[in-house]
Amino acid sequence: VSVLVTGAAGFVAATLIDRLLARGDRVLGLDNFSRGSRALLGDKPRHPGFTFEEADLSSLESFRSALGAYQGEPIREVWHLAANSDIPAGVADMNVDLRDTFMTTFNTLSIMEERGIKRLYFSSSSAIYGDHGERSLAEDSGPLLPLSNYGAMKLASEAIISAAAEKFLETAALFRFPNVVGAPATHGVILDFVRRLKTDRRVLQVLGNGSQKKAYLHISDLVEAMLFVQSRQIPRVDIVNIGPTDSGVTVRQIAEETVQVAAPGAELAFGTGDRGWVGDVPRFRYSTDKLQKLGWQPKLDSLGAIRRAIHEICKQECLA
Ligand SMILES: NC(=O)c1ccc[n+]([C@@H]2O[C@H](COP(=O)([O-])OP(=O)(O)OC[C@H]3O[C@@H](n4cnc5c(N)ncnc54)[C@H](O)[C@@H]3O)[C@@H](O)[C@H]2O)c1
Repeated sequence: VSVLVTGAAGFVAATLIDRLLARGDRVLGLDNFSRGSRALLGDKPRHPGFTFEEADLSSLESFRSALGAYQGEPIREVWHLAANSDIPAGVADMNVDLRDTFMTTFNTLSIMEERGIKRLYFSSSSAIYGDHGERSLAEDSGPLLPLSNYGAMKLASEAIISAAAEKFLETAALFRFPNVVGAPATHGVILDFVRRLKTDRRVLQVLGNGSQKKAYLHISDLVEAMLFVQSRQIPRVDIVNIGPTDSGVTVRQIAEETVQVAAPGAELAFGTGDRGWVGDVPRFRYSTDKLQKLGWQPKLDSLGAIRRAIHEICKQECLA
């Protein structure tokens, strides 16, 4: 094993692990299938470079025992992706993000220290910033006032990773993701719309008034960006906003584009207010200048990413 990936049965891991295997890494994936699934592992279990263990990483005991069979094997780096990805679920029950977003990070660091693993790549989120209106947010913008327990526990995760870097890590990349779209989708606005249209092809009920505007990145670009940053000489703790260069698209645009592909002619029914749910950030602008200065640009802008993802997710859900 050269690389450990937590959250290995999830959406982002599905593409990341394929890329790691393609570059010759031997990957050990861990997941408890709480949000991901065995089906999302796809062909990976047949790949000679891939092994998988089912484990609840919020329990240090379960984490350790999953690694029991790999005791003598040096692990070069960890990609920590396991987290709760359902923001409303974490708002409804505060325990969800403490357990799946924070404790999985805490335990990942404990295991890394025990085993002397010094390189960590972490999937943080734009949710750590909170609501700053139209202001463009760079990596050093603040104050950091998350609106959801999910964002709060990602911010707490960044904080404890920073402390671990002072103690024993050589490299900690804190990647702040925007909304990431594509297949195999496990959550997100497009999957939600497609599933709603599957049950009712005439009306698409949209949460909020549709004016929420955010940046979207296609999964293929996200994974490229992370591997690009990894290939550079990065400081011990490096925060990188990953995203497109445009200011994003509105939920109304996404609804219209989805209807066109999944159920042409369906009517759009909007809710009220500019938030889809408690903890939703209505408008969000990201500065990705740092990544651009390093020399990386996404292939797709927000609208391009949304369009490609709609086709992929309709196919996934057998609607196209
Ligand atoms: N997709 C996005 O738009 C987005 C945006 C910002 C940040 N992120 C972050 O990227 C990472 C990957 O997200 P994703 O979209 O692939 O979500 P996902 O839900 O598809 O994947 C997360 C995986 O973690 C696993 N997991 C959760 N709790 C666990 C636990 N206690 N023990 C073991 N496994 C556990 C889930 O089963 C799931 O397979 C997450 O950390 C997420 O917070 C994603």
